[in-house]
Amino acid sequence: MSSATSFDGRAFHFEVEQDARPAAGAFVTFTTADGVRRLGQVLESVPAESGTVGIVGRVLGEVDGDGAFLGLSGLPFTDADVNPADEGTIDRVYAAPGARLTIGALEASPGVPARLLPNRFNRHTFWCGQSGSGKTYALGVVLEELLLHTELPMVVFDPNGDFVRLRELRAPKVPQGEDGGAAFDREALAGRDIRIRRPLGAVGAPAAEAGTAPLLVRFTELRMRSKAAVLGIDPLVDREEYNALLHYESRIASENPEQIVVDLQASADPAARALALRVENLRLMDWELWAGNEEAITDTLDGRPDALILDVGGFTYPDEHLVAALAVLDRLWAERERRRPVLIVIDEAHNFAGPDAESPLARAVRDRIVQIAAEGRKFGLWLLLSTQRPSKVHPGILSQCDNLALMKMSSPVDLAELASVFGFAPAALLERSPLFRQGEALFAGGFVPAPTIARMRERLTEEGGADVPVPLR
Ligand SMILES: Nc1ncnc2c1ncn2[C@@H]1O[C@H](COP(=O)(O)OP(=O)(O)OP(=O)(O)O)[C@@H](O)[C@H]1O
Ligand SMILES: [Mg+2]
Repeated sequence: MSSATSFDGRAFHFEVEQDARPAAGAFVTFTTADGVRRLGQVLESVPAESGTVGIVGRVLGEVDGDGAFLGLSGLPFTDADVNPADEGTIDRVYAAPGARLTIGALEASPGVPARLLPNRFNRHTFWCGQSGSGKTYALGVVLEELLLHTELPMVVFDPNGDFVRLRELRAPKVPQGEDGGAAFDREALAGRDIRIRRPLGAVGAPAAEAGTAPLLVRFTELRMRSKAAVLGIDPLVDREEYNALLHYESRIASENPEQIVVDLQASADPAARALALRVENLRLMDWELWAGNEEAITDTLDGRPDALILDVGGFTYPDEHLVAALAVLDRLWAERERRRPVLIVIDEAHNFAGPDAESPLARAVRDRIVQIAAEGRKFGLWLLLSTQRPSKVHPGILSQCDNLALMKMSSPVDLAELASVFGFAPAALLERSPLFRQGEALFAGGFVPAPTIARMRERLTEEGGADVPVPLR
């Protein structure tokens, strides 16, 4: 039997034979001579004397005689007997702090549900993993849990139409009455207000797609800077055109857009004529994005649905998705003083928050996200960004994330970058990521009571854009 010591009541160490080495992330109990039982988590093993390894980790807290989890006393201890923790005790780690979002089961103890803390989505979250690792599927599980257990409204940027079926429940796999809480969850999900907004051309017949409507933006509502960005105008580089736009701005709000373009074309001012050329070259008047008198996305946002899914793929012109994103982000930012919480979920976040955004429009979107990452938290604007590699998202955003979810990632360079940015994620757990199977994920940071490797549960709702199968003969 090994004997553990903690000098500060927070970190522990002990030695074991090579072949009895517990895995990183494993939970162990320590029992001291006075009968006190503590729970700890193994974080690392280090070489020790011949034939043995040193195990170091973190003390999570004390456990009383009934198995209740008491939290950290901070008292040092020596000569504690070390044993693997049983499932009931591990469960307390998640139950005690109120971790209620059941996203799957612990990879090492499949009998213990893996749970996240709903109240800690008041921080920014970074979700990373290589293509096919299961990010989008897993994100869907988290969205379901947030819908089930919180009143936190969510706005989801969904570039591949993966969440457009979030309103549809999957058929239960087991007969009704035998699937425990799942039937209850299905019913609760069906009661939530989930709205889908898609490019006009992708919206089907109203009867076929309830809750679905076109994703439309009102140009007149955009801030001056954003209007300029839509036209690709940089206020300092394209000074004359920016100025011409400034002079026309008041007219844009009240007059017929076609007439304004005609006037621009006929203007004696070369900058105004250049503006008209931009409108024409970008085919701006043909974009299906413009709301006219229809409901714009900002109107829908003001209604604060439980989930607003923005299918931002599938527009005809290359910049339309960015304008849709800018309209939403600008509105959320403009309303920040109202301190109404919202979770901004961005799948494929590199499309909006990449470090090398080049056009004024892409920069405007990216800079707004950087700003929300830096300053949005206290206003209730919380980000959840998902992408394949950490380097694909602006470093000013990454450094603001307090929660990390990592799925399979084989690249050592990417893992090293994650380790340096997310110091709170134990290195020995990050190193296991290349061996993850699809649907396995490491969770670390404030939203999980202890760093956790989990196997995601099955979705309750339908997935949207499934992988394209190879045609077989
Ligand atoms: N936990 C899971 N259980 C069952 N199927 C899964 C699971 N995770 C992923 N899949 C399936 O695997 C495929 C790829 O998963 P997903 O789209 O979530 O990957 P991804 O990490 O988002 O990839 P990309 O970066 O390319 O978007 C999907 O068809 C999905 O249905
Ligand atoms: Mg995906």
